Amino acid sequence: MLEQFMRDVDTGLSASFKHLSSKYFYDDIGSQIFQKIMAMPEYYLTNSEYEILSLQAKQIAEKVNFKVPFNIIELGAGDGYKTIRLLKNLKGLGLNFTYIPVDISKKAIDILSAKVADEIPDVKLEPYVGDYFKLLINLPNSIPSLVLFLGSNIGNFKDEDARSFLSLIQSHLKPNDKLLIGFDLKKNPITIKNAYDDPHEITKAFNMNLLHRINKELGANFNLNKFDFYCHYNPITGEVRSYLVSLEKQDVFIQSLEKTFSFDVNELIWTELSKKFDFIEIEALAVNSGYKLEHHFLDSKNYFTDSLWSK
Ligand code: AVJ
Repeated sequence: MLEQFMRDVDTGLSASFKHLSSKYFYDDIGSQIFQKIMAMPEYYLTNSEYEILSLQAKQIAEKVNFKVPFNIIELGAGDGYKTIRLLKNLKGLGLNFTYIPVDISKKAIDILSAKVADEIPDVKLEPYVGDYFKLLINLPNSIPSLVLFLGSNIGNFKDEDARSFLSLIQSHLKPNDKLLIGFDLKKNPITIKNAYDDPHEITKAFNMNLLHRINKELGANFNLNKFDFYCHYNPITGEVRSYLVSLEKQDVFIQSLEKTFSFDVNELIWTELSKKFDFIEIEALAVNSGYKLEHHFLDSKNYFTDSLWSK
């Protein structure tokens, strides 16, 4: 875990165009900051997907159409705010399923499990801490699965990586298994920009925490006052790209790598891609990774889709 983090930081900061992966945003502090992001009015993604999952559970159940007990496997389950609503509604329709939240963070899984047990005690719960694919390999063959990959988490993947990740999931699914996957849609670029370049500077803190984390875990001496945050949305490509900006020419020493990294004034570290999609791109991604697109479940503003795919 720490070795991988060290390697990725070393590679990223040694590159001619520096980069660090947004997957490292989510330590305990980062996860708390992300909760604050989800609660901001500008971060419309949360409300849009919440609306879909709370108002359209019946339609989702009809399209999924499993007639026997099944598994609901949630990859990267997070805090469960949106999913619990869906599960509650599915239970209300009399469906028989086991909820299997999967996350690499034991803390996240423990908190979510307690919340599920408390709010929907009649749902069968089999939490799993670890790698997505280890779980998918070990699933019993007899029970159909609905896999959830919500929140537009797929937006963090580069095109090629999204395709190979979704193909790998596909290869572990049984015929007729289904994937419900969240995509943030292209929309008024101002709306999108405001969700990331937020006036409360919470997204800035989310990015800055990565430097704080490197200081703490790898013994570095990043001075956070000497970096700023910059992000922009390109409505042509649908990409929000986020960066940290070095405000002066400076050297940073990272103890556990026993290395010094030099930053030019205004040099960027690319931290995150948050891709926005149109329906043509989603259809192409589904087909190219081996799925059939069954249905789009949209919110009332057409900001977001939870897209149902089958193997
Ligand atoms: C959790 C990956 C969907 O890209 O919108 C929020 C993370 N980054 N604000 C996103 C995030 C900045 C978020 N995802």
